[in-house]
Amino acid sequence: MKLYHHVLGLDHRPQRPRSHRLGSTARLLEAPLLLRRRPTRRADPLGGAWDVAWQNQVTPWDASEVQHGLKELVEERWSAIEEQGIPWSSLVGQKTLVAGCGRGNDCIYFAAKGMEAVGQDLSEKAVQVARENLASTPNAPSGVTFEQADFFASPLPTSLYSLAYDYTFFCALPPSMREAWAGRYAELVKKGGVLICLEFPIDGDRPLGPPYSVSSEAYEQVLSPHFEKIYSQAPSNPPEGREGREKVSVWKRM
Ligand SMILES: C[S@@+](CC[C@H](N)C(=O)[O-])C[C@H]1O[C@@H](n2cnc3c(N)ncnc32)[C@H](O)[C@@H]1O
Repeated sequence: MKLYHHVLGLDHRPQRPRSHRLGSTARLLEAPLLLRRRPTRRADPLGGAWDVAWQNQVTPWDASEVQHGLKELVEERWSAIEEQGIPWSSLVGQKTLVAGCGRGNDCIYFAAKGMEAVGQDLSEKAVQVARENLASTPNAPSGVTFEQADFFASPLPTSLYSLAYDYTFFCALPPSMREAWAGRYAELVKKGGVLICLEFPIDGDRPLGPPYSVSSEAYEQVLSPHFEKIYSQAPSNPPEGREGREKVSVWKRM
C-alpha cells in the first residue's frame, strides 16, 4: 500500500479530513491485494475490487482536489488551445465527460466553469460518494450528473461529448485495455471535440499496477488513430513527489 502512496505522490499531500483518511494499517496493506485480484470480465478486470475499495474507504489515489495541472491548463494556458481553433467559450454549456470520476471534484470544477459535466464511475459506492460530495460543496454548481456506468460498455449518449478529461483512469487500466480505452473516447467525443489527459504516473519501466506506469508515447500510440495531439506540456511547479512524472496533453477528435 505504501507503494501505491509513493507511486501516486500522495505521501506529500496535506492530510485530508479524518473521515477521508485510511482507517488502519490493515487497510493500508489490503489495498494492493484488493486491486490485484484475478481478472474477471474485460471492462472490469479487477472483478469488483474498485467498489470494494470505495466501500472500505481504501482510496489512496483520491486527492480530494482538482489537480494543479488541469487548473493551470484551463485558467492560464488555454490560449495555446485557442490558437488551435478551440476557444474556451466554445465549450461552455457543452457536454463534458469525466470517466472513472471517483469523488467527482473534476466534474464539479468543469460545471463551475459552465459545462454540463457527467461523471461516470464503475463503482456504485464511488457514485454515492460523488453525489454526497456535490451536495456538501458550498455554492455547488448546477449541471453535474454522476452515474454508475462502465466506460467501456455503457450505451452511447444521444449527443456526444465536446470535452473529456482523463486523470488516473488510463493508469488504472491494464495496458492491454489501452487501445479499447482510446477507441471508446473516439466513440464518445464528437468530431472537433477535445480530450484532455493528465498523464500520470510517468514512471518508466516500473512494472505492475494499478496504477500502471504511463508514458506520452503510450497515449500517442493508442490515441493517434483517432485524435490529433494539439498540446503537450508539463505543468509548472508540480507538487512534491510528482516532479517529472506528469504531463498535460490535449487531443482534438479528427
Ligand atoms: C484510480 S481511481 C481514480 C479516480 C479519480 N479519477 C481520481 O483521480 O480521484 C480509478 C477510478 O476508475 C473507476 N473505474 C475503474 N474501471 C472503470 C470502468 N470500466 N468504467 C468506469 N469507471 C471505472 C474506479 O471505480 C475508480 O473510482
